[in-house]
Amino acid sequence: MSTGPGIDFQHLFVPGISARTLILLHGTGGNENSLLTIGKAIDPTATLLSPRGKVLENGMPRFFRRLAEGIFDEPDLIRRTHELADFVAVAANQYGFDPHHMVAIGYSNGANIAASLLLLRPEVLAGAVLIRPMVPLFPDTLPKLANRSVLILAGNHDPICAPEESRELTALLARAGAEVELEFENAGHEFTDRTFSAAQTWLQSREL
Ligand code: MLT
Repeated sequence: MSTGPGIDFQHLFVPGISARTLILLHGTGGNENSLLTIGKAIDPTATLLSPRGKVLENGMPRFFRRLAEGIFDEPDLIRRTHELADFVAVAANQYGFDPHHMVAIGYSNGANIAASLLLLRPEVLAGAVLIRPMVPLFPDTLPKLANRSVLILAGNHDPICAPEESRELTALLARAGAEVELEFENAGHEFTDRTFSAAQTWLQSREL
């Protein structure tokens, strides 16, 4: 495991033994360690790349600014999405992993930046597990997401991400051509054991 200098994101990198790389994207207040155990358990063979969001909200790391709960600073979101996409390309080059087999595991704010990557920089991800995501933005033009697989894991009484929003994101990604599955569990915004096993089962059945 290494914390790489030279790339403009504090991050952890854990080499794996398969072609797949998981990019782990934490929620508000998390950091590069937050999803590491989960990422290793979801796919013990995968390479792991785990950046820390660079925006601080009252000292809590995030991947982009928000103006209020659920109201995003869209110019910042767009800029940060491109910055993260560029980081992935530099990291692939520096560490020598295959950038074509990258799957995001994003939770909450991390799921939102992962969804934004799919919408604005679709070349970055082969797939994504989006845990408690929102619709981050509506792009001016729909990306081409053919051959991209997405699992959305929503909580049916999530006070932050309403069920309707999960359906809207599902529809948006499907309109862009992605293969999208939406699963609700009897939960709120929290990451549960059921969330973990749903993500693991889905990923094991995919050639991403
Ligand atoms: C966001 O700001 O990305 C969402 O509200 C999720 C979160 O609370 O971080």
